[in-house]
Amino acid sequence: MTPESLAALHAAHAADPHAFWLNQARRLVWERFPATSGDWSFDRSDFHIRWYGDGVLNLSVNCLDRHLPARADDVALLFEPDEPGTGRAVTYAELHAETCRLANLLKERGVGRGDRVMIYLPMIPEAAAAMLACARIGAVHSVVFGGFSPESLAGRIEDCGARVVVTADEGVRGGKTIPLKANVDEACEIAAGVETVIMLTRTGAEVALREGRDLRYDDHRDRLSIDCPPEPMGAEDPLFILYTSGSTGKPKGVVHTTGGYAVWVATTFDWVFEPRPDDLFWCTADIGWITGHSYTLYGPLMAGVPTVMFDGIPTYPDSSRLWETIDRLGVTILYTAPTAIRALMREGDGPVRKHRRDSLRLLGTVGEPINPEAWRWYHDVVGDGRLPIVDTWWQTETGGVLMTPLPGATRMKPGSATRPLPGIEPLLVDPQGQEIMGDDVSGNLCLRGSWPGQMRTVWGDPQRFIDTYFVTYPGLYFTGDGCRRDADGDYWITGRVDDVINVSGHRIGTAEVESALVAHPLVAEAAVVPAPHDLKGQAIHAFVTLNAGEQGSDPLRAELNAEVRKHIGALAIPERIQFAPGLPKTRSGKIMRRILRKIAEGQLDQLGDTSTLADPGVVEALVRDR
Ligand code: WTA
Repeated sequence: MTPESLAALHAAHAADPHAFWLNQARRLVWERFPATSGDWSFDRSDFHIRWYGDGVLNLSVNCLDRHLPARADDVALLFEPDEPGTGRAVTYAELHAETCRLANLLKERGVGRGDRVMIYLPMIPEAAAAMLACARIGAVHSVVFGGFSPESLAGRIEDCGARVVVTADEGVRGGKTIPLKANVDEACEIAAGVETVIMLTRTGAEVALREGRDLRYDDHRDRLSIDCPPEPMGAEDPLFILYTSGSTGKPKGVVHTTGGYAVWVATTFDWVFEPRPDDLFWCTADIGWITGHSYTLYGPLMAGVPTVMFDGIPTYPDSSRLWETIDRLGVTILYTAPTAIRALMREGDGPVRKHRRDSLRLLGTVGEPINPEAWRWYHDVVGDGRLPIVDTWWQTETGGVLMTPLPGATRMKPGSATRPLPGIEPLLVDPQGQEIMGDDVSGNLCLRGSWPGQMRTVWGDPQRFIDTYFVTYPGLYFTGDGCRRDADGDYWITGRVDDVINVSGHRIGTAEVESALVAHPLVAEAAVVPAPHDLKGQAIHAFVTLNAGEQGSDPLRAELNAEVRKHIGALAIPERIQFAPGLPKTRSGKIMRRILRKIAEGQLDQLGDTSTLADPGVVEALVRDR
């Protein structure tokens, strides 16, 4: 983007937001083009968020059918499995056919508009087809990352009332298999209501099928029609639910709707990546996360840019995997996470330099703050000092990127997401809710006004949506992030200021981990805080108090880890479990997390005033046992 075209976009938004937003909607194919753009109020009394409310469209048409007349046999996606070089290309025509087959199978099983479908799959092409199949018939998909446990899956099935689960026999990651179908069976023991399990084939393993409930897709595929008329959807009809951790309680079902989400993803994909006809786009995110939804799948498909679906990990079979794959496939844009960059940086420059990487033209990062050291390595070594980096800040809740430097138009700064995109109005607020004006200041990051990709509600709990995001700072959306605006007016995200821990770019709620830990019969109390970690960004540090007379031990730590694995998944296992004789509490019994954070961070000279604690002695014990 040129500085002039960026300035023109900002000016167009300032002059006439309605026209500006309708213009962005022109990127899509609509059955009925909207006359309205955004309509929202963040006031409690009249809370609503609507975008393009009178528009009618189907997202699968925008991803598939629109490309068929001219480009049916072009590559839509490249499947890159765990084992390098064993993948295959899928054309728009093939992906369209697979989508229709799955859509027809879902319809046979009684799935229609508004019904929820759980997707628990590896990164196989059929996973894209399954999501698109839901979009085609107006069903609401809810993808659950394969690393979540059966119990987590069950909780999500129950929360959204899904009657159908689409899964695979097994997943394969880093040479290890994941028993996806067996996990679904276990989840169905816990959650009631699943009537159909559609099982796709990944490994071909022998797995049990339950008569009446389970079907093997391969047994039906050939008889299913490759034609399925797209359901005309209202722009505000829900497209998907994606569960994400918050500061309290169970994960929230973040609801995104069809029109606004699609417009924002298409718009940001255009602005941020400026696709070209010869691009091959590789976003390494799994479809179980928002980045996978917006930029592995929907963004590139809408733009007509082939996308890599990577079903492996960056360190398998060895730490040159990304670079080897980039050369073999001819990847032009790589979009990955700081945690992967740091892990690969640790292996030195050798594995990178072994490969040419000369197809690359742009690098991107997302998911957590990138430390300047990792940014420089990404820039200097991976990008040979010649490639721009887009450091894109956004959230599950925002649908797509909100802040990033735009190559050509914005000056890059290692570690800074720099500036908001046109139409986005960030502001910093102090704890009293006053806006902090000027530059060279820090505060809590809020957004003024809405944008098309904003989440619409928490599934089944609209009040929780309002309470979580719009009450702390009335009239504003509160992101949960802390942020600095530097002397040049550039933004630096400093991380979560709520009780969410960002482990390797994955959001983990402290409350969820704590409740998993206290599920163990010997645990009296648990408090979980983040601790800085060289590779993961943040790691989980758990303080655990046992029942009177019980002793902490390594075998007990293993049992507690197992508890976390069971209730949430291996991704939430604490880095460190510290057994504590007691937890620092106020006289009214509230745990002082601020103090625990400082202890976990090793900032022992910054514990602050501990004299108001009910028992100041516990802090000394915690510091001693650190
Ligand atoms: C963090 C991922 C700094 C932030 C798209 C946010 C970032 C949370 C960046 C959302 C970035 C994401 N720089 N921090 N470029 N991108 N974050 O919902 O704390 O999985 O609130 O969405 O990740 O994580 P989520």
